Parts: sequence; structure tokens; C-alpha cells
Amino acid sequence: MEPVSRIQECINLIYGHKKNRKSIGLVPTMGALHQGHLSLIERSILETDITVVSIFVNPTQFNDQKDLLNYPRNPDGDLATLSMKLRQQDIVFTPDEKEIYPEKDTRIFDFGHLDKTMEGKYRKGHFNGVAQIVSKLLELITPDKAYFGEKDFQQLIIIKHLVKILHYPVEIVPCPIIREEDGLALSSRNQLLSPMERKESALISKTLFTSVLRSRERDVEAVRSWVIETLNSSSMLQVEYFDIVNSTDLKPVKNWNEKGEKIGCIAVKAGKIRLIDNVKFPDF
Ligand code: PAJ
Repeated sequence: MEPVSRIQECINLIYGHKKNRKSIGLVPTMGALHQGHLSLIERSILETDITVVSIFVNPTQFNDQKDLLNYPRNPDGDLATLSMKLRQQDIVFTPDEKEIYPEKDTRIFDFGHLDKTMEGKYRKGHFNGVAQIVSKLLELITPDKAYFGEKDFQQLIIIKHLVKILHYPVEIVPCPIIREEDGLALSSRNQLLSPMERKESALISKTLFTSVLRSRERDVEAVRSWVIETLNSSSMLQVEYFDIVNSTDLKPVKNWNEKGEKIGCIAVKAGKIRLIDNVKFPDF
């Protein structure tokens, strides 16, 4: 594996591979790698000739400076993990802020309703920052495929939209959520939880899974409020939102009979730590 921090060096390596007709897979991350990230990397290794893993804690997507400062970082550990996983020809791209943003990125993206709802309501400007970094990575690395987790479902939908409006010739590959044994979705932020908060956070996915069973006999609004009430009844958890939406346009679902895949997306605060998760509601 080749660790590279300069953009020009990365472009040169990729140019060489493209000349040899190698396919490129991109896995964008903010580091503090865990099995969720590794599942994306494994998929890319299976499906493409060269995997590029980027590690960059992107400041423009943080609406809260404290959150940026406290974001978990583990550069040495990440490189050690990747050196076991990646092949000789694969690339780890670790640019610094000046390299990515030599000047302030003033681009504003219009995602219509997609970034006005759920995360977009609570993290103003977050998805614009995500779009800034992901568009730069797609343009620099020009991958054939790029891998994103369904854990950040709204992000995945917005990136698919970004690719569509900017006509990037890349296939976006959605990857399933990887969970701890007790159901908690893996996240770099989980390590910031106190032992008590960590234990209590298992209630989030348990409640989501139970809500799917309840959806057989209750209407959408009843299921939605049951999830919020159940989680808020824990003294350690506070729901920010739980919305059941159509998985394509992220518009609220009113009735289980509506057409299209339905997904329940949640953000919960466990103490000071904000966790997100989601569950799909199958048609019964
Ligand atoms: P980060 O939170 O590091 O996540 C990188 C990728 O890993 C994202 O596509 C995310 O959805 C995926 N991922 C995280 N936890 C996962 C889990 N438990 N199961 C499956 N996939 C999981 O998301 C970002 O970084 C950034 O916003 C980024 C896209 C890199 C832009 O800065």
C-alpha cells in the first residue's frame, strides 16, 4: 500500500494505473477506522483493481467547531490497520487542509428537499460541506466506483444526487450497516460514549427493529411516536428526530400502503454524543 499526502502525487499514481486500464475504487473516510469502514474497503478490493482510501477530517462539513475539535483521530492506528488490509497497489490518500482547500470553498449546492430535512435541519451546512469534499475527491481520483455506507443514509442519497447533477462518471455503491453485537451501529463517535451511555445506546437499534414489527399493525404516526417515546423514556437518551421517509426522495411517509421503499431515520443524543441510525420498513 502507498500512503500519499500530496494531491499531485496521488494524481500521478492514478494516471499510471488508468493508462494500464486498471479500475479504481474510492472509499472516502474521516479516519478513526472501524469495521464499518473496513467493510466498504473489502467490497472495493473485491470489485476494483486499485482501491483508494481517503482519510480527511473535512472541516467544512462540521457546523459545530467543538465537534470538529473532539472528532476522534487515530492516524497511526489507521495506517497500521490499512497496511494489513490493503494490497501493494492500493493507495491511502491523507491530504491536509491546505492541500484540499488552498482557498476557501465557496460553492453552494442545491439539493432541494434532500438537505432540508432530518440531518439537514439539525446540522446547517453539513451536506454542503460533504458535497464540497466528495466532489473534489471524485474529480481528483476519478474512480469507477465509490463506496458509501447506508449508516449515513441521507448522505448516500445526497451523494447519488450530486453525481447525477454534475454528471460524474462513477457508480455509487451503497454498503449495508455494520453493527456491534448488541445492535449499535458502528461509528467513530461510539468511542466518545461513557460506559453507561454505550450500554444504553443499544436501545436505539433494538427500538428501531421492534418498530418494524409494530408497523404490521399500527399506522405510521403511531410507530413514529412510539419510537420517540420509548427512547426518550431512557434518562440517558434524547431523540432529535425520527422520521419515516421514502428512501428515494426523503419525503415523509403518511401511509404504509404508499409506493416505494420506506426507511426510518433517527438521530439521538446519548449525553453529549450524537448518534444516527436507520431501519428499512419492508412491505408486509
Ligand atoms: P465517515 O463517518 O468516516 O464514514 C466514511 C464512510 O463509512 C461513510 O460512507 C459511512 O457511511 C461509512 N460507515 C460509517 N459507519 C458505518 C457502519 N457502521 N456501517 C457501514 N458503513 C459505515 O461519512 C463520512 O466519513 C464523511 O461524511 C465523508 C463521506 C468521508 C466526507 O467527508
